[in-house]
Amino acid sequence: MVVMDLSSLEISDIAFEKISKLMHRLCGLNLHDGKREMVRARLMKRLRALEIKSFEQYMKYVEQDRSNLELSIMVDMLTTNKTNFFREPQHFDFLRQKVLPNIKNHRMRFWSAGCSSGEEPYSIAIVLREELPDIGLRDVRILATDISGRMIEKAREAVYEQRDALQEIPPHLLQKYFICIRTRSPCAYRVKDSIRSLVRLARLNLMDRWSMRGPFDVIFCRNVMIYFDKPTQKQLLIRFRKLLKPCGYLFVGHSESLVASPHKFHYVQPAVYVK
Ligand SMILES: C[S@@+](CC[C@H](N)C(=O)[O-])C[C@H]1O[C@@H](n2cnc3c(N)ncnc32)[C@H](O)[C@@H]1O
Repeated sequence: MVVMDLSSLEISDIAFEKISKLMHRLCGLNLHDGKREMVRARLMKRLRALEIKSFEQYMKYVEQDRSNLELSIMVDMLTTNKTNFFREPQHFDFLRQKVLPNIKNHRMRFWSAGCSSGEEPYSIAIVLREELPDIGLRDVRILATDISGRMIEKAREAVYEQRDALQEIPPHLLQKYFICIRTRSPCAYRVKDSIRSLVRLARLNLMDRWSMRGPFDVIFCRNVMIYFDKPTQKQLLIRFRKLLKPCGYLFVGHSESLVASPHKFHYVQPAVYVK
């Protein structure tokens, strides 16, 4: 087999513009010029695997693939899926201390929009199990969606390795809500059914039409809008607000700011907004 050396392959202006326009139209990603090297490095792996010699040729391949499989592979390669259990713990404290004690309804709905491999919705579910002793008598559901089919599959498997994803989980919660399925290093754990049963996973591109009606008590859209441009963020904020209950909360990532995107939410504390 001939191994192609593509390490010095450049991405032309035309190819980069085509990729960034397509990604923007399809999934709202803002691949500005500063992301050029990232795009080149990530797609290079795909070019190598397909033995394609230029980015122009790769884009033709994407366009000609009627199944759209290559397009979804490309989206997978260009989105960032970094996540963790109890990432940005202030949100989980807020949920525990301020949100849950004030929900009197029997029906509770949460949405993890851009859930990646599932750590976020499962963290929400753990908090709900811990804080709501009567959860079995209530109608509680967490919707968890992501554009990446690969991430939704990982979330569905719900298997995580101790060395990375599970670091932030206190040992008593690990013992209570996870089953150890591999004891040799790196240890792996599966999320128990009592947690998984609260979460509904689905593939959803936030740019598409949404079929769910809500209304939601809390929407988590953390570290997702950071990859979108301002007009896309503004549209999303309008749509999120419509799906929230009166006084429902929107949580965004702590490195994201809604200041530059006009919106009708009220600021509560860093990265927490209320309708
Ligand atoms: C960095 S992860 C954030 C995961 C989690 N919310 C957190 O804060 O840990 C961003 C996720 O947003 C998803 N994403 C990006 N664009 C999207 C879109 N247009 N629709 C739905 N999900 C999208 C990516 O696939 C990725 O899994």
